[in-house]
Amino acid sequence: MTQQANGQYSDEARMAKFEARIERGEKIEPGDWMPEAYRQQLIRMISQHAHSELVGMLPEGAWITRAPNLRRKQVLLAKVQDEAGHGQYLYHAAETLGASREEMTMALLDGRAKYASVFNYPTLNWTDVAVIGWLVDGAAIMNQTMLARCSYGPYSRAMVRICAEEGFHKKQGQEMVIQYAQGTPAQKQMVQDAINRWWWPTLMMFGPHDSESKNTPQLVRWGIKTKTNDELRHEFVNELVPALHALGLSVPDPELCYDEANECWVSGPIDWDEFWRVVKGDGPLNKERLTARRDAHENGRWVREALVAYAEREAQPVAA
Ligand code: 3HC
Repeated sequence: MTQQANGQYSDEARMAKFEARIERGEKIEPGDWMPEAYRQQLIRMISQHAHSELVGMLPEGAWITRAPNLRRKQVLLAKVQDEAGHGQYLYHAAETLGASREEMTMALLDGRAKYASVFNYPTLNWTDVAVIGWLVDGAAIMNQTMLARCSYGPYSRAMVRICAEEGFHKKQGQEMVIQYAQGTPAQKQMVQDAINRWWWPTLMMFGPHDSESKNTPQLVRWGIKTKTNDELRHEFVNELVPALHALGLSVPDPELCYDEANECWVSGPIDWDEFWRVVKGDGPLNKERLTARRDAHENGRWVREALVAYAEREAQPVAA
């Protein structure tokens, strides 16, 4: 790699060195040289992931006070608290790239930043909590297990910790779906209705088709994504469809078919108009979700101000 007269390396040379590191599967750490586009992509993706964790607390949080028994209440409390912690890990990971918590929070609250569209749908009854656990958290695990191999060190390490907890989230949801599918006809119908409501919004979690995904090519080139949106969605469908069928449950996809030649399930078309409508803010509960986050931020203002005041007082030199 040629050095310039001033001993510095040209950007081309540094890019070549960076991409060779990615090729070798090395982890890029906060102090390492990285292309600005790599840093910006990670801040975008990690901060929106963090926003999704916090907003994702709202659909299930509404059912903590209405859990059917103490054990379900305790499990749901633990799950929702986990999601808050996942948000903190991820905001910290984004801060290692120079993003500030304030900037990221304001981007969410003023609508500039995105969060997973799936969380803009209502939880109509308790079986929604069960189906969110198995389907939504199951899809999140599939995506996050991939991200645990991400080229950016802090993000991949955060994923390892988060995936361990998501495993519990998925299992508690799956346990409930199995219980209700094997319960009374009314319970089975309720959980089937919940699957019908959450199936397509869950498939949308994996993002647009690869051909429409403006970020995927760069993210795959730089090892941030090691699988594409469609690869993960296909894996998810082929894990869930046989498992739901085994319970006598179905998915709301009349064009779902089994491809004998490739021995796999193939989904029907996704309603991308609905996807973009919800992503752009016109989903069933987008306004309510953002209002809840804005209210939480405002209600927490006094805590932030007290912490700043305390830190400033502690920083004052002690009078002799
Ligand atoms: N909801 C909202 N926006 C979405 C979306 C979705 N499901 N899928 C894609 N988008 C947005 C992208 O953010 C991008 O917009 P931007 O450029 O303004 O940010 C645009 O649509 C184009 O999509 P791309 O495919 O080009 O974007 P990505 O390559 O970033 O793919 C992604 C989208 C698959 C969500 C990817 O960003 C990703 O893997 N993110 C990390 C994981 C994550 O954020 N998961 C969210 C769920 S967290 C969760 O489920 C919590 C669990 O505890 C339940």
